[in-house]
Amino acid sequence: MTASEPRLLEKLDGSPTDIEAYIKVGGYEAWRNCVTSMQPDDIVGELKKSGLRGRGGAGFPTGIKWDKVLNHRVKERYFVCNAGEHEPGTFKDRYLLKHYPHQLLEGCLIAAYTVRAKAAFIYANHEYEEERKNLKQAIEQARAKGLLGKNVLGTGRDLEIEIFEGHGSYVAGEETAMLESMQGRPAMPRQKPPFYPTDFGLYGKPTLVNNVETLCNIPRILRKGADWFTQVGTEKSPGTMLFSLSGAVNKPGVYEMPLGTPLRKLIEEFGGGVPGGRKVKAVFPGGPAFSMVTADQLDLPMDFDALKKAGTGLGSAGVIVVDDATCMVAQTLKFSNFFKNESCGQCPPCRMGTLNLAALMTKIEEGEGTQKDMDTLLQLCGFVKGTGYCTLVTGAAVLVQSAVRLFRPEFEAHIAQKRCPFQPVRTAVGAVS
Ligand SMILES: Cc1cc2nc3c(=O)[nH]c(=O)nc-3n(C[C@H](O)[C@H](O)[C@H](O)COP(=O)(O)O)c2cc1C
Repeated sequence: MTASEPRLLEKLDGSPTDIEAYIKVGGYEAWRNCVTSMQPDDIVGELKKSGLRGRGGAGFPTGIKWDKVLNHRVKERYFVCNAGEHEPGTFKDRYLLKHYPHQLLEGCLIAAYTVRAKAAFIYANHEYEEERKNLKQAIEQARAKGLLGKNVLGTGRDLEIEIFEGHGSYVAGEETAMLESMQGRPAMPRQKPPFYPTDFGLYGKPTLVNNVETLCNIPRILRKGADWFTQVGTEKSPGTMLFSLSGAVNKPGVYEMPLGTPLRKLIEEFGGGVPGGRKVKAVFPGGPAFSMVTADQLDLPMDFDALKKAGTGLGSAGVIVVDDATCMVAQTLKFSNFFKNESCGQCPPCRMGTLNLAALMTKIEEGEGTQKDMDTLLQLCGFVKGTGYCTLVTGAAVLVQSAVRLFRPEFEAHIAQKRCPFQPVRTAVGAVS
């Protein structure tokens, strides 16, 4: 075991859906140990010691979340793996579902077993057809080996994992909206409080919800130990993370790096730099819902706390690189339209806020904006931030605020020239819609 060894991705010698290839590298060993020789409190204790934080966006400590469900006074509990993944620029869960279905399944089995779940589900993005197929195959192979189903590993206990085809919207990935849609209701976030599914989840019962990547970390942490896991990463963000790298880079893809690695290494070494001899103009280090950073911030360590301190966030590590030929108004508009289209429309600040932010951004991009529109834009951001039932509208406001703060001269140029000064209009991620 070395400090440079990946903490998450096992090197498989064989097909991802071949259970033998996974078993050969120690797969399902942790599951066997959990069932035969570990108590749920020991499992939670090891996770707490590892300091693992959720990879779905909020970075909540995983061990603490499991503890809350395990020790809840209500004994009817559920477990759901969140594989909704619908944010632009984030595709690492898809990678895991496709290439590591057994590792995910093992993580799910351990999670459901540890919290004594009555039923366990994987809520999977409806567009990920091939990935769901791999997962189904993995489940059947594990069943054939007695690893799940009736009388798991001869213990007399039954445990099933069911795949639930997701609703297919961004908001449906928000955990309470996901649970609502699983109960046959519209995929809309619940009003808070109660704040967490650990208290009020599926059918109103305590529910453990974890992201795909979070769960894929579990088997190796338990097999190799928390001390091994914490050898890489930072004190408060231990381990590695999968970074989905897209936009203006030569080699977009999914890369595993220790938390705390500088952003520059991801873009220049893993991503092969910016194509066409262009330069980095901005980066979304945590997807479109967090503030952008600029080219002079490429030495920022990519971990939860460092990015928060820098006024942005890691989210689920969907890193989008924007080059210097890009119109930042057009780029921002593209994501403003995404938030408008994906707002579920339930709460008025989000419904109206995302609509009006996109309308004002369109006006400015098309050369019809005024100084008053700029004032209204920023005022609106201030009004809606922090008001929704979920954080969608806050993300929409943070996006616009960061674009104006960092690239105000470009907004001013659109107003002064009454057109987009970038001809033809280019964005780093797809065309302007
Ligand atoms: C609008 C919105 C969309 C989200 N989409 C996802 C998603 O696709 N997958 C995911 O795991 N978490 C998503 N989340 C975060 C979940 O609500 C939740 O925090 C997460 O699944 C918890 O798992 P973790 O503790 O393992 O990170 C989303 C949150 C919001 C506000």
